[in-house]
Amino acid sequence: MIILGIETSCDETAAAVVTDERKILSNEVLSQIEEHKPYGGVVPEIAARAHLNTIDTIISRAMKTAGVEFFQLDAICATGGPGLIGGVLVGVMTAKAIAAVCDIPFIGVNHLEGHALTVRLTGDEAGKQIEFPYLLLLVSGGHCQLLIVEGSGCYKRLGTTIDDALGEAFDKTAKMMGLGYPGGPMVEQHALTGDPVRFDMPRPLKGRSGCDFSFSGLKTKVRQTIESLPDGPIKEQDKSDICASFQNAAGDVLIDRCENAIDTFLSAYPNSTYLVVSGGVAANQSILGRLKTLCKTRGLSFAAPPLALCTDNAAMIAWAGIERFKKGDVDDLAFRPRPRWPLDPDAPKVTGAGIKA
Ligand code: KG4
Ligand code: ZN
Repeated sequence: MIILGIETSCDETAAAVVTDERKILSNEVLSQIEEHKPYGGVVPEIAARAHLNTIDTIISRAMKTAGVEFFQLDAICATGGPGLIGGVLVGVMTAKAIAAVCDIPFIGVNHLEGHALTVRLTGDEAGKQIEFPYLLLLVSGGHCQLLIVEGSGCYKRLGTTIDDALGEAFDKTAKMMGLGYPGGPMVEQHALTGDPVRFDMPRPLKGRSGCDFSFSGLKTKVRQTIESLPDGPIKEQDKSDICASFQNAAGDVLIDRCENAIDTFLSAYPNSTYLVVSGGVAANQSILGRLKTLCKTRGLSFAAPPLALCTDNAAMIAWAGIERFKKGDVDDLAFRPRPRWPLDPDAPKVTGAGIKA
C-alpha cells in the first residue's frame, strides 16, 4: 500500500510518500520561517498564501524522490484539522483534486492523530513497532495533552492545557527577549548556558491531582522577570538564566503531570509499558532527558519519534492515513476542513483561552 500525505495546518508545507510496511519513501518539508520571522509568530494569511504558492512543487518533489507515479497511489490524505483554516483548506482541496483525478480514496487526517501515531511508524530504539495501548504526552505549539492511545481513532484524554500550550509558552518567552522565531529551539539553546535556579518561576498545578496543564502564569512570570531587570538591552547571561529557569519550571510541571497520568494509565492497563512523547516540544533534549529518567524510575519504556518527525511533517499524516485506511475508514469528497477537531470527542470541555482543539 502506497499513500501520499499532505500537511499544511501551520507554517510547514509538507508532502510525503509512505508505505504500509513503515517505509518512508519521501518526506519533503518546506518551512515558512523566513516569511513569518519579521512578525515573531505565524501570520495565518501569509501562511495560507505561502502554502498555495508551494504545494504543487512540494508534492511533485515528494513523488519524484519516492519514484512513484500518481496512478500507483492507493489513497491520498491531507491534514483536515485542527489548524489554521486557510492552510488546511489548501491541503485538503489539493488532495481532493488528486483523489478525484486518480479515482482513489481521500482521507482527511486529524493533525493530532498524526503526532499521536508517528511512533508506530518509526518504532522503538530497535525499530520494532510500538503496540497499542500507550500513554502519550503530546506537546506542540498548539496543544499540550496527556492521552491513552488505545488504537487509531481511539483516544482517552487524561488532561489538557487550560490556557496556553507549552510550545506557545516557549515561543512567547523567546519573543519577549527578542531571541527569534521559532522560539522553542532558541530557548533551549540559551538554556544550555543558563542557571536553571536563578529566577524563581511558578510551577502551575504541580502537586495537584489530575493531568491538566497551565502555562500562562509561567509566561507572565517570564515577562515580570524581564521587567524587573535593569533598563537597557537584556544581558546575554540574563537571557540564558531566564531561559534555563523557564525550561526547568516547565519540565517540573510536565514530570508532575506525567506522574499522575502514569498512575491512571497503569491502573487501566497494568501490563502496558510505553510512555511516548510527540509534537514539536519533543525536540527539546532537556525535556526528553527528564522524561526518560521518569520512565526509568517508573519501570516504563520510553519512545519518541526522531527529531525531524517530532515537528510538523507529512510522513506522520500519511501514516495516520494508512492506519485509518487499513480499517476501511476513508472520507468522501464532501469532507469539510475543521479548525477545531479534538482527538477525544467525549473529553469534558475545558474553558480557557488557549484551547485549540
Ligand atoms: O508540532 P509542531 O511542529 O507544530 C504544531 O503542531 O504546533 O510544534 C511546534 C512547536 C513550536 O511552539 C516550537 O517552538 C516548539 O514546537 N519547539 C520546541 C523545540 N522545537 C520546536 N520547543 C522547545 N524546544 C525545542 N527544541
Ligand atoms: Zn503539529
